[in-house]
Amino acid sequence: NCIEVAPYSHYMQKEIFEQPRAIADTLEGVEGITPELFDQQMNHQPGANAARVFAQIDSVLILACGTSYYSGCTAKYWLESIARIPTQVEVASEYRYRDSVPNPNTLVVTITQSGETADTLAALRHAQSLGMHHTLTICNVATSAMVRECSLAYVTRAGVEIGVASTKAFTAQLAGLFLLSLCLAQAKGRLPEAEEARHLKAMRHLPAALQAVLALEPQVMAWADDFAQCENALFLGRGLHYPIALEGALKLKEISYIHAEAYPAGELKHGPLALVTSSMPVVTVAPNDALLEKLKSNMHEVRARGGVLYVLADTDTRIESGEGLHVIRMPENYGELSPMLHVVPLQLLAYHTACARGTDVDKPRNLAKSVTVE
Ligand code: G6P
Repeated sequence: NCIEVAPYSHYMQKEIFEQPRAIADTLEGVEGITPELFDQQMNHQPGANAARVFAQIDSVLILACGTSYYSGCTAKYWLESIARIPTQVEVASEYRYRDSVPNPNTLVVTITQSGETADTLAALRHAQSLGMHHTLTICNVATSAMVRECSLAYVTRAGVEIGVASTKAFTAQLAGLFLLSLCLAQAKGRLPEAEEARHLKAMRHLPAALQAVLALEPQVMAWADDFAQCENALFLGRGLHYPIALEGALKLKEISYIHAEAYPAGELKHGPLALVTSSMPVVTVAPNDALLEKLKSNMHEVRARGGVLYVLADTDTRIESGEGLHVIRMPENYGELSPMLHVVPLQLLAYHTACARGTDVDKPRNLAKSVTVE
């Protein structure tokens, strides 16, 4: 490939480390929350106008595949908690083939790194054929079919992503989706100025915050030595971080070929607890949020069955390493944007586990970077 990988060992590692830059570029020029951010930059569709659309819509339908689907699942929490807009997230290949009830006042949001995924394009066209014409894409390729076919767009600037397992495109999508949530909140009169300023400040600090998380790499490598010996792993999260657990499990499956499942931690007792043994590591995403105490009791359930926990804990959670409990401390507690930071050690964990197992990290078996046929 013509993009130099040095000093990194693989494109995936390089792309993980490019995230501070990818987010800085994606948010560059964002001085305030304004609907114009979503007007088509490339090929403005006559008549499309984000301000007018945002004022009209009463719900959001997100359509995507793979990792992009998980960024959509994360955004649902922001759209409902910050903008108070009912949001549905659907896997594109399911949505296009089921009978659904169309709402012409829905904003259809497609999320796609490549902008060429066949199922996502078909799902968009299906929604349009049902009379839903307010369409917006969060996409990393300005010249893609998806950007051409949606009336509104936010083009992320993660740069070319070569590793098949998506990393920097995912966090860049989250940045775009957070902006969208703020814009919709504003359009509905639900974004007080002080809140806007607080969110903008947090977004500006993201590149530095990501840099601090990347410095955890040596600690994650120590975990990866344990994971490389396993055939199964369980990922737990709650709330906003449940989709991050899903994404962590997907990354591990894709490149290390370890079977990994993610569960919302409260569901543990309804099934996966039966799988817990000392040979199945349990990764837990533990931000210091309203669900922390509940999550701690879920962790006890695992420990009581001899399970070994690997916990990504915010600094102020008072979760300490001990017997069967490995803790990596996140540099700072990041509130609503915390998923963007917690996902990074999970990307590194998958990466280093795959390296330890000697797999073809950038080109995992049976997978393609962009799936342009059904
Ligand atoms: C493929 C890739 C995934 C990606 C998915 C959706 O399966 O291997 O990494 O998440 O397609 O791709 P998109 O370009 O639509 O985001």
